[in-house]
Amino acid sequence: MASFLETAASIAREAGSVLMSYYQRGIAFELKGEFDLVTAADKASEKLVVERLSSHFPSHAIVAEEGSGQDHASSEYRWYVDPLDGTTNFAHGFPMFNVTLGLERGGEMIAGVVFDPLRDEMFAAERGAGAYCNNHRIHVSRATRLEDSLMATGFPSFKRHLNINVHFFHQVAMLTHGIRRGGSAALDLAYTACGRLDGFWEFGLQPWDQAAGMLLVREAGGQVTSMKGGPADVRGKHLLATNGKFHGQVVELFGEVFAGHYRVPLPQIDSSR
Ligand code: IPD
Ligand code: CA
Ligand code: CA
Repeated sequence: MASFLETAASIAREAGSVLMSYYQRGIAFELKGEFDLVTAADKASEKLVVERLSSHFPSHAIVAEEGSGQDHASSEYRWYVDPLDGTTNFAHGFPMFNVTLGLERGGEMIAGVVFDPLRDEMFAAERGAGAYCNNHRIHVSRATRLEDSLMATGFPSFKRHLNINVHFFHQVAMLTHGIRRGGSAALDLAYTACGRLDGFWEFGLQPWDQAAGMLLVREAGGQVTSMKGGPADVRGKHLLATNGKFHGQVVELFGEVFAGHYRVPLPQIDSSR
């Protein structure tokens, strides 16, 4: 019998083909919030994933972003599904998106995949068995100092006027090699797992954005916590993931920002220039 991970990977690959068929045609979007896009591709991908999961695992709970999951509240197993992570990119033809599935058992992530159909990259991890990209073992980067890192972050569309991340963004931008904002949280985490990035943080994540990615980072040797360095929770909304070698430095820096202290002051705008 195929493992949870093998089944998840095969479903993600199939959903990736659905996404590609829409992407190649170019596609219209609707708004589900003021700046929050959704496309027919999100819905078609979710339909396929939920149909496949519920036929393989009829007793499992499924939490899917577009709302078509199945509510088996008493189930020990819960899937988190983002049928298209990076919808804004997708709708604009910016080539950075994925489909991601994560499986939780009794409150712990035990399996997860992030599939990028444009690059044909399948990131996969199983608890205790390591993390892989296209069946090759992956590891986090070797950077030991924040000063030598390339970081990533994101800004959710929902209630974006309340997001405090700009304060953190400035400090990290000043103290690292730079920040990437790729527009796909699951790939940011997968890239942290394979060492293309040294770390990622975001305020306002949903469980399906981070479920698979947090397991990938851990299984690749990295560290995942809350912004303040406490335990990370898939439903916790805030997440800091790094290669684990300078995690404390980031927690310290973020602690200063939470306390209103800016190590590097914001530049003044000189309106006469
Ligand atoms: C979004 C992307 C983005 C992140 C947002 C997510 P969606 O997911 O992952 O990078 O900054 O927080 O909501 O809406 O494209 O599935
Ligand atoms: Ca998402
Ligand atoms: Ca999505």
